[in-house]
Amino acid sequence: MARKHPVITIDGPAGAGKSTAARMLAERLSYTLIPTGAMYRALALSVMRSGVPVREGAELRAHLAPLSITVAAGRVYLDGEDVTEPIRSREVAQVTSDVTTLPSVRAKVTPLQRRPAAEGGVVLEGRDTGTVVCPDAEVKFFLTASLEARAQRRQAELAAAGTPVALDAITSELATRDRQDETRELAPLRRPEGAIELDTSGLTVDQVVERLLAAIEHHKSAPAPAARWSRFYAAMRILAVAVMRLMFRLEALGSENVPERGPVLMVANHSSLLDPPLIGGASDRQLTYLAKAELFEIPLFSRLIRALNARPVRREGADPSALRTARRVLEEGGALLVFPEGTRGEEGDIRPAKPGAGLLAVSSGAAVVPVYVRGSGRAWPKGRRFPRSAKVTVTFGKPLRFEAERGADRKAQYEIASREMMDAISRLRDGMIAGTGQGRPESVRVVGRSGK
Ligand code: DC
Repeated sequence: MARKHPVITIDGPAGAGKSTAARMLAERLSYTLIPTGAMYRALALSVMRSGVPVREGAELRAHLAPLSITVAAGRVYLDGEDVTEPIRSREVAQVTSDVTTLPSVRAKVTPLQRRPAAEGGVVLEGRDTGTVVCPDAEVKFFLTASLEARAQRRQAELAAAGTPVALDAITSELATRDRQDETRELAPLRRPEGAIELDTSGLTVDQVVERLLAAIEHHKSAPAPAARWSRFYAAMRILAVAVMRLMFRLEALGSENVPERGPVLMVANHSSLLDPPLIGGASDRQLTYLAKAELFEIPLFSRLIRALNARPVRREGADPSALRTARRVLEEGGALLVFPEGTRGEEGDIRPAKPGAGLLAVSSGAAVVPVYVRGSGRAWPKGRRFPRSAKVTVTFGKPLRFEAERGADRKAQYEIASREMMDAISRLRDGMIAGTGQGRPESVRVVGRSGK
């Protein structure tokens, strides 16, 4: 079910004119404005005032847990205090750039931004709003401007606030912040997939707003197309589906539960080497797969699976590079298939999930589609050399969405999310397929509540 009003995201580097344009746009549309940079600045101000060191640790987490950061009518409140003006200083800007690289800071603020956006009718403005906060936003913008134009704007802003600063100093500060924003590990500044890019260098704010409004109008009359397919993948899928229909009488149930666009994390049970092509064949979305790293050592096969969107994952211990790949696929609005159990098991068995899938589900905010494959463990079980003919059914369940609870232990949250997705797969196995969905999550699961 489409949202009644769209979510609009505006990302881009500092000084590209996002804040003013976003505020005016929200006013013109009567939408809620969520200035995400201002929320991070408020958090930085509270860290500065408290003297808590700017690094990951128990002290910072304890400071963040009770913190309240809210926005209303374009003003920003820190524990109820209006901090709209004090957060604009250069000192706060510098500390903000540092604190935003910390995982516990992003884990604290991202849900505060996602929650009000869920219903639509909002304009989000920042660095990661179209990639991480709302990757399923209906309209995404990426505003840019030359470094000179951005520095001149910042200088004028500061002068108007009574702090004249030399242009050189501002230029080098902006360049440093660009680098920090673009290269940080978590939620780096990146043009979101499908975003409309606008160079604001030679434009007035009014002109920028007019262009944004025109693009939104255009979106209303012609919504964004469904996700793109690679030709090779599409051709191979047709071939694979033909073979799998013949050999396994492949049947897909609940395809309407898979969102047509936006990030999707598919989580499936695993009992056969056939599972990835079976799910890829049954799915109307082009998938990216995580496959064991050893497969990428087989010369020709490795090229083939790479072309079919497989990406390597080491199965011993945590694999940060696979996690980065997975995050990136979701940030770009793609559909990723993972087998949370890690290795293949027996037909019909559903085993506990590794915490990695839970981490991805909670941190990406993607729709999580549970998938149950029935029969593949009979068609080609572990230990057999060749497949045999057997009926296979792939069932897609209604999407779930996980959200971190404030202050709760992160590891415990990931475990709960992992457990809940396996429970959803078990329910599909047991035939409890709850009606049909329209590809939008029914409810948001807040994981980490005590007693669960
Ligand atoms: O847009 P701004 O200058 O108010 O942002 C302040 C800082 O916060 C800047 O260093 C980038 C960072 N930021 C972020 O990391 N993620 C966001 N969504 C918004 C801002």
